[in-house]
Amino acid sequence: MGLKKFKEILGNELGRIDSLGISKRNERVIEGFWEDGAIIGGRRYVVFNSNDYLGLRLNKKIISAEEEGTKKYGAGPGAVRFISGTTEVHKNLELAIAKFHGREDAILFSSAFSANLSVLHSLIKGQSVDSLVSSNTLVISDELNHRSIIEGIRVSGISKLQKEVFSHMNYDDLERIIRENKGKFRRVIIVTDGIFSMLGEAQDIKKIKTIAERYDDEFEEGILVVVDDAHRVGCFGKTGRGCEEFFGARADIIIGTLGKAFGADGGYVTGDKIFIDYFRESAASYVYSNPISGGNASAGLEALRIISEEGVKILKKLNENIKIFKEGIVSNGLKLASDSNHAIQPILIGDPEKTKKIVSLLFDDGFLVTGINYPIVPKGCDEIRVQISAAHKKEDIENFVDSCERHMREIQMGIK
Ligand SMILES: Cc1ncc(COP(=O)(O)O)c(C=O)c1O
Repeated sequence: MGLKKFKEILGNELGRIDSLGISKRNERVIEGFWEDGAIIGGRRYVVFNSNDYLGLRLNKKIISAEEEGTKKYGAGPGAVRFISGTTEVHKNLELAIAKFHGREDAILFSSAFSANLSVLHSLIKGQSVDSLVSSNTLVISDELNHRSIIEGIRVSGISKLQKEVFSHMNYDDLERIIRENKGKFRRVIIVTDGIFSMLGEAQDIKKIKTIAERYDDEFEEGILVVVDDAHRVGCFGKTGRGCEEFFGARADIIIGTLGKAFGADGGYVTGDKIFIDYFRESAASYVYSNPISGGNASAGLEALRIISEEGVKILKKLNENIKIFKEGIVSNGLKLASDSNHAIQPILIGDPEKTKKIVSLLFDDGFLVTGINYPIVPKGCDEIRVQISAAHKKEDIENFVDSCERHMREIQMGIK
């Protein structure tokens, strides 16, 4: 019999996914990048669907730092850190991240996804049966949190009673859940995205912290606020410090990525040294998985240096570009799906077929964007997710908005 039956089931499942029009595996193949453009089939496309918000991915200093790091430390890490040792550049990068966020220490992971999986597991539950860290935790998560947070809670294997979901960005609901669970748990962990990546909405960390502080004494081990600020670190707040800078509040633990605004690769967690030391002992994807390479760490370090020294200037350019885009959308009679002030700017289309059509017409015009449909966004809220970068030229943004407007108009008139 072999695997015939199982392979048949997998084939049917792929067919089911394809028939729903939600398959992801036929990714677009990019041959290279030229300035802010991607080369596909020999043609240049302006990229409006990248998390490279500051345009640092192609920064010459970062690339050359990566090359130097690779020459010095090799192309791969060799082994996990506790076996093979930690290179100087990984240590320096961790210290630079901690300093950037005004924290005692930081720890690197291969990605923010991997950080979320391990960190949530470690905080929710001790890693072994004889761990002194009990699993007597209530985890409260925003209903639209990123998949890596959902999976982090899932892998911790806690019971249904230990998980609560608060309505998206609804602080009264969050408070209600905490109030109703007073005295039932030793500690509470509130976990949230900083920016919700489909609509660019910003979670109000100050409101969450205020609620956490109000009820902290009701739980023996207190209330911990964990913020995954992957889309904001580097590119939000006056100097790129993300949600904390914007809202003037401090999370207990920040999760970030070097793979979006920093233009490099890898994930990180920063906070008090006691948390970071505990993660170095308990976070499975840190202890038992390779770190980023020395080349990647060198690139991350250079990106941090650039953002620390020139961030304000680059952020000014990004914010000017966001303004040009938003004004263009509004003056052309198009609608934004949220009032985001982040580089993520969703254009509301409201219909899955129209969204698909416009994305394809924009591709023909030389623009890369992503259509987002139900169930990722509510029914009737289908959108084109546009991601603005400091690297965009004014005329690219203006041409893009003109194309959007023309296609929308022609589709509405039934011409296309
Ligand atoms: C909120 C959030 N967290 C984590 C991640 C994953 O980041 P990384 O690519 O570093 O794993 C993403 C990716 O889009 C994200 O939106």
